[in-house]
Amino acid sequence: MAMERAPAEHEPVLTKEVLQFLAPKPGDVIVDGTLGGGGHSLAILRQLDEEGLLVGADWDPQMLEAARKRIEAAHVAPTRYRLLLTDHAHLLPVLAEVLAEAGVQPAAPDGFLYDLGPSNPQILDPARGLSWESDEALDMRLSPQNPGPSAADIVNEWTEEALSKMIFGHSDERWARRIAARIVEARKQGPIRTGRQLAEIVKAAIPRKAWPEKIHPATRLFLALRIEVNQELERLERILPESFELLRPGGRLVVITFHSGEDRRVKDFMKRMATAPRPPWPLPETGEPARAKLLTPKPIGPGEEEIQRNPRSRSAKLRAIQKQ
Ligand SMILES: C[S@@+](CC[C@H](N)C(=O)[O-])C[C@H]1O[C@@H](n2cnc3c(N)ncnc32)[C@H](O)[C@@H]1O
Repeated sequence: MAMERAPAEHEPVLTKEVLQFLAPKPGDVIVDGTLGGGGHSLAILRQLDEEGLLVGADWDPQMLEAARKRIEAAHVAPTRYRLLLTDHAHLLPVLAEVLAEAGVQPAAPDGFLYDLGPSNPQILDPARGLSWESDEALDMRLSPQNPGPSAADIVNEWTEEALSKMIFGHSDERWARRIAARIVEARKQGPIRTGRQLAEIVKAAIPRKAWPEKIHPATRLFLALRIEVNQELERLERILPESFELLRPGGRLVVITFHSGEDRRVKDFMKRMATAPRPPWPLPETGEPARAKLLTPKPIGPGEEEIQRNPRSRSAKLRAIQKQ
């Protein structure tokens, strides 16, 4: 089947708020761990000067290329940025080298940004099998650097119980058990190969009157599978503390999430960093201060105008802390 061209640009969400909470200044070193189409990175670069450095990372070569083109088209001097093709869960050792080579001493960035999930071109590229309308292989891996099983491997090989647990755990899908049972039933006729095939199974599993009003009935299953295939929660749990440790005192960590499983993890981590450590009673208080200041006591979401312009922003939540 001929591949449609995916749109070249990803419209970044909450850009004004990213700049407000990341607060990049001339001379700063900022790491964008989810470069995507480079929209946020370009906005950050506009606030940095010749002395500043932007390091952008993405594990998808197509997104990295799209970002490179966007930044080059804006005539930013190549000395002001480095773009790295890497899984951000493996970014830190590479980053140490890049900062050392760029003469950044100590090698401690002033800010980290993570804008999680897939970008629009990835969602709309049928070859990635992220959509319930895709007739291509049900893959869902966002990067050739992801060595794990594809979505097709999971739906065709996992037990009914494991599928049900994973679907519910990642997406709160209340029909998880029935969907898992239908998947196991359907694959007896032959492997499930495409998103469209899987979506039909979900539609048959959920009673018509219980279909959600505003989203496709397969939305939650596809979200759960994408999270599982890309090990998104495990990666998130790793990058939060690692990035925070590397930040210089006064530096900021800004994270944008798109679903509750991610947001809960970010919220818990940030709260923990912003709370003074307390030994278990009856040990005496140590008087140790909190390691961070919470910059967003409540998550920041998009305004009506942004939602109208970019409906994908609807579920975005931004949280930020500043290292003390
Ligand atoms: C929502 S998009 C970011 C969009 C970006 N902020 C912009 O302004 O265009 C998320 C990006 O993170 C990348 N990504 C997701 N998981 C990743 C990982 N583990 N390592 C590196 N990049 C990752 C995806 O490939 C995608 O391009």
